[in-house]
Amino acid sequence: MTALGKIDSSNLNGGQKLAVKYFSVAVVLFGAQVLFGLLAGLQYLNPDFLFGILDFSVNRMVHINAMIVWLLFGFLGSVYWLLEDESGIPVVGLKLGNLAFWVLTLAVVVVVLVYLLVQVGAGSHASIWLINEGREYIEAPRWADIGIVVCVLVFFYNVAATFTKGRFTGVGGVLVLDLVALAGIYLAGMWFTPNISIDQHWWWWVIHLWVEATWEVLVGCLMAYGLMKTLGVRRKIVETWLYIEVALMFGSGILGLGHHYFWIGTPEYWFTIGGFFSALEPIPLVAMVVHAVFDAGHHKIRSTNHPALAWIIAQAFGNFFGAGVWGFMHTLPQINLYTHGTQWTASHGHFAFFGAYVTMVIAFFYIAIQKWRGNVWMSGGLVGAWKWKWALALLHIGMLTMTMALLTAGYEQSQIERAIEGSSWAGYFAAQGHHWFIQGMKWRQIGGWIFAAGFVLLVWDLMTIGRRETQPAKSLAE
Ligand code: HEM
Ligand code: HEM
Ligand SMILES: [Fe+2]
Repeated sequence: MTALGKIDSSNLNGGQKLAVKYFSVAVVLFGAQVLFGLLAGLQYLNPDFLFGILDFSVNRMVHINAMIVWLLFGFLGSVYWLLEDESGIPVVGLKLGNLAFWVLTLAVVVVVLVYLLVQVGAGSHASIWLINEGREYIEAPRWADIGIVVCVLVFFYNVAATFTKGRFTGVGGVLVLDLVALAGIYLAGMWFTPNISIDQHWWWWVIHLWVEATWEVLVGCLMAYGLMKTLGVRRKIVETWLYIEVALMFGSGILGLGHHYFWIGTPEYWFTIGGFFSALEPIPLVAMVVHAVFDAGHHKIRSTNHPALAWIIAQAFGNFFGAGVWGFMHTLPQINLYTHGTQWTASHGHFAFFGAYVTMVIAFFYIAIQKWRGNVWMSGGLVGAWKWKWALALLHIGMLTMTMALLTAGYEQSQIERAIEGSSWAGYFAAQGHHWFIQGMKWRQIGGWIFAAGFVLLVWDLMTIGRRETQPAKSLAE
């Protein structure tokens, strides 16, 4: 250990050194997501803005693909972060893991450059292989798809083999099983069919079964580890909760898939199945809130890492409201008939991804930075604590402003376009031109600027937190 407050990689184990590389790229891509989101939002207000130079379709694509990729980088980093701690031994294939990191990062850079350089053109077999596959959220061209699969296999090998050789904790067991599902489902989005119903049928396996099943389980594992690290909660307690959450999550999330099969040409029984099981999906999210808040209360929020703990609690609430409440609002087919594909959906999409996933990855950034700086004190009385608090506040205020603005616009669309005008072509334009819609788009942009300010502050804080602190974190250890 070197001086407190100094960034020094000798404070980290092998897996953690790799983790901070993943985290660094994640932060950069997070910045790209925010930037392209702002551009796309501006184009809603002024459709001529950058038209023909950087089209809305491209900005939107980069915005949401950057989100998926940075969150995945965040998850991979988080798992590498906890791997040696949990298993008790060094990562078995660390060299291979490092190689996979560089391959993945290079592939991402090339893919984004191609998106920006080749913005329009006909779709063909060549474009699927070289440019993009046209599947929202996972647009990577096929060559990159295959590369991603290889890198993920390396990652999976590292995780599974390390736990097998070392100690298989409950968290480790759930994690390995979950990664099998997470990686396996990715394959469902890789094959091409010209029938759009069939294509969408499989594409939802990736998107829905990721965010509402396998990613949720992954953040459940991260939350379990996070609570042990930041609060010193006993393993038996977090692992028991984890098993309950996982059972409920898979129990509702898998058949909840049906809420995406209402209007794409799949059989009618999906109305009943999708409506029923997705209505149950908020239940495990309630369990997560109870879990995190109960543990924090029980330990009197006595933690040496307040920012990480704050983001973990933010995750519990954000997941519950963004995914659970906002998802539930439009998940019954009777309601979805009116709300489907409106800004209502975008309101939920933003709030859920932020609440459930962004929060947890940021919590891990803070866990990592603490140890990287020699396990420095990051709790009450921390020098410069206003930065992490304001970053947390601005990111939340920005996101909530966007969420409410989009929800208002979505209500207006459901009312005017669907209910009054009967989903007609004219109704679509009547809704888009309505002043509530336009105001909604303005407020979304204001929320976006606030969010961007929060992001800048977050990055600044991550680079400086604990630098001038002289107390070690250990003094609170239970
Ligand atoms: C963290 C978990 C979740 C995330 C990240 C998430 C994200 C999203 C996103 C991005 C979309 C838009 C997809 C598109 O582009 O078409 C969407 C759609 C949807 N989500 Fe979620 N969601 C989550 C959980 C839930 C839950 C728990 C429910 C239900 C209780 C739900 C219900 C829905 C419904 C019904 C739609 C379709 C909206 C439409 O018809 O346009 N989601 N979700
Ligand atoms: C500066 C902040 C942001 C702005 C201005 C912004 C703006 C936008 C815009 C204009 C779209 C296209 C919407 C459409 O096609 O109608 C979009 C889509 C989306 N954004 Fe953002 N965004 C921001 C931050 C975020 C963050 C932080 C997340 C999540 C972590 C996120 C997740 C999404 C998702 C999931 C979609 C697809 C939604 C759907 O199709 O339903 N965005 N965003
Ligand atoms: Fe879903």
